Formats: sequence, C-alpha cells, structure tokens
Amino acid sequence: MKKRVAILISGHGTNMEAIIKNSQNGILKDHCEVILVLSNKKKAKGLKIAKSYGIETTCIISKGKKRKKFDIELINFLEKYKLDYIVLAGFMRILSSEFIKTYKNRIINIHPADTDKFKGLGAYEWAYENKLDSTAITVHFVDSGVDTGKVIGKRKVNLQKADTLVKVKEQGLKVEHKFYSEMLKKVFEKNS
Ligand code: GAR
Repeated sequence: MKKRVAILISGHGTNMEAIIKNSQNGILKDHCEVILVLSNKKKAKGLKIAKSYGIETTCIISKGKKRKKFDIELINFLEKYKLDYIVLAGFMRILSSEFIKTYKNRIINIHPADTDKFKGLGAYEWAYENKLDSTAITVHFVDSGVDTGKVIGKRKVNLQKADTLVKVKEQGLKVEHKFYSEMLKKVFEKNS
C-alpha cells in the first residue's frame, strides 16, 4: 500500500516539488502519494507549484497564534486525510509535543547541515562563513527537540567550488532534491 503523505512548507518548496515529481513519476512512484501540501504562510510560492501538479493545497496561517493553538488546529484539520507520514520541506516552525505525539515516528525533516555539527536556522550561511570545503544534508525523524531526532541518513555536499553563498545554497539544494526522496523511499520500504 502506498503511504499517504502530507508535505508541510513555508516557502519556495523546491524540495516539495522534487518529492511530488518522484511520487508521480520517479523513485517514489510505488511508495507514496502526496495527498496534500500545507503551508503556514499565505505567500508561499510552493502552494502554486503544488497546484500545478494537481495536488490539493491549503494554508493555515500560523502568524500571531500560540504554538499549541496552531498545532491543534493543524491536527484537527489533518485528521480526515488519514495520513501515514508528515514530510517537512522547509517548514520553518517548531512543532509542539501535541503534534509530535499525534504523528509519533511519522514526521520526517530535511536539515541542510550535519545535525551533529549545526542545528537550527542558517545552516548554509554557517557553512559559507566558516569556509567549509564540504557540508552535509541530514534527513531525520522529528522529535521534540530542534534537529535532534533519529537520523535516517546523511549525505556530503562538496563546496570546493562554491565561493559565494548563492553557490553554497545551489550545491546544497541539488543534493537535497535527490537525497530527500531516496531517504523517504528507505523509510517507506522499511515500514511497508
Ligand atoms: C532547504 O534548504 C531545507 O533544507 C531548509 O530550508 C530550505 C527550504 O527550501 N530547511 C531548514 O532549514 C529546516 N530547518 P525549499 O522550500 O526550496 O525546499
């Protein structure tokens, strides 16, 4: 049975698009269906992109709401979709314990650094400012900490030729787009 997946975004959604493509015609085709794309920001570019692939989209605005209140609204909204997994793709919000308990071991995130070396926001800026030759991408389960959940996989990003922040991000995202779907496939296969 294909896993029923919702992707949560806050912005451009380039990772989201790569996952949708793979679920419709790539390595995730036999493994999952993207049922819904949800943004906490009205202006997220990814909403339009998801629609263009025929995916249902919705926006639940988080601004001005207390974390717990927003997350309960999210839990109640998502219930009817009977989701197997929640995939975070540039969703720039910390989830409360209520949400994490509801989808225990079924929330997956991508972080643009090795989570043992750098947690939180600004990972590409950190790699650039420290003139790193390479960095890493981590795909992990989400627990109640920030980027502390069980690691599913890490992949190296070569930065030797990336001499600007824009290039660091470009190199990183190129790896993210391929690696995220590979790691999702690994999880879905293992739990099929
Ligand atoms: C990606 O680089 C992702 O790894 C990062 O935000 C970007 C979203 O890009 N996520 C985090 O930093 C989470 N803490 P996208 O919207 O184009 O996929």
